[in-house]
Amino acid sequence: MNKIQILGPSKTIGEIKISGSKNSALPILFASLLVNEDIKIKNIPNIKDIYITLKLFSKIGVKIKKNKNLIINSKNIKKNYFPNKLIKKIRASIWLISPILIKFKKVKIHIPGGCKIGERPINLHLYGLEKLGAKIKLKDNYIIVKIKKKLISNTITFPQISVGATLTLILASILIPGLTIIKNFAKEPEIIDTINFLNTLGAKILYKKDKIKILGVKKLHGGTYKIIPDRIETGTYLIASVVSKGKIICYNTDANLLKNVLNKLKLSGAIIKTGNDFIKLKMSKRPKAVNIETLPYPYFPTDLQPQFTILNILAKGKSIITENIFQNRFNHVKELIKMGAKIKIQNNKIICKGINKIFGTEVNAKDLRSAASLIIAGCVAQGITTIKNINHIYRGYEDIEKKLCILGIKINKI
Ligand code: UD1
Repeated sequence: MNKIQILGPSKTIGEIKISGSKNSALPILFASLLVNEDIKIKNIPNIKDIYITLKLFSKIGVKIKKNKNLIINSKNIKKNYFPNKLIKKIRASIWLISPILIKFKKVKIHIPGGCKIGERPINLHLYGLEKLGAKIKLKDNYIIVKIKKKLISNTITFPQISVGATLTLILASILIPGLTIIKNFAKEPEIIDTINFLNTLGAKILYKKDKIKILGVKKLHGGTYKIIPDRIETGTYLIASVVSKGKIICYNTDANLLKNVLNKLKLSGAIIKTGNDFIKLKMSKRPKAVNIETLPYPYFPTDLQPQFTILNILAKGKSIITENIFQNRFNHVKELIKMGAKIKIQNNKIICKGINKIFGTEVNAKDLRSAASLIIAGCVAQGITTIKNINHIYRGYEDIEKKLCILGIKINKI
């Protein structure tokens, strides 16, 4: 079923366990394709993007055992069969290119899909690979990448910061003899997590403030690794608790990954305590409006912008949200206006005028994080909110209905 209904308004009160990070689990899975031995991965989130990736992997010959943890072995991957239907479903399939190129010297895949949040070009991925000596052609929506013998080490300075392209280049460089240096790279915790994972398997990647240094090794070996907590899932529940004037403890999480977001929530009036693996948040009054501007890590993450919008909609005062990462990450705005929000888009900004109440109605989720934003809106709106096309949410949030029920939200699939 592709619709949910939420009866509001309700406060989120209770304790939940945060899942493993989607944006770490995905590159870590693709990085595992470089290895011919068993790899055990702990804290894999049970979400649709991982399910699609594992389905893709099983089609290309990866052996997968899944119980509480995941064990995968990529020794017998096939050369030439990459099902378009699965490739087109997730943006992460771009990370097939480097491992397959290294194993077989040639790779041809369909241009990947992903959330519709504006143009999502792949030029930076290809720029990096070309700098390492790969020959690239784009034909009929296919990317064809070839190398003669081996990739060649180099120093690459990205013209623009990209999470995905930084990862493509790290994966491509691990086995290149000599020293490869990457500059102007993305510093997201999920990238550091992937680097730590690869180093556990024998890679020699040194991460510094201004560069990543990769000293090529002959091969990687098997191992066990635990994925970091999902900072975006954590942030989503914390924002829901601020907007609903709730009280929450998120366990199995890491406050260090959310410093900028926690500061913004404190500015809105939340009382926050953090410990080794938990964040406790209490909000007893209407939030104050807070300006936010999305930028690469360590600044405010674009993946929490749609959720923070609902906070500013119901806050005291006016605010401006500036979206600097994706040119069209505003799918939530039109839907929130249907619920009574006083907001408008001006170029890459959302101008918000805080109001006291919003009202349940039928709204349409168009991508993963706008679906999360509409769910928070449904929790605090007066009456029933029906969210259509809710399937997007399962791409990135494990057991979201169950977790919201624990927090006291009246939510139903229809
Ligand atoms: C990753 C995350 C996504 C997050 C985003 C930014 C995963 C699976 N997805 O997406 O959740 O919102 O980082 O933190 O980890 N760009 C180009 N050319 C390229 C690549 C990117 O112009 O070749 C542009 C994009 O259009 C965008 C910006 O660079 O405007 C940043 O994108 P990027 O950091 O690459 O995001 P993703 O890796 O797609």
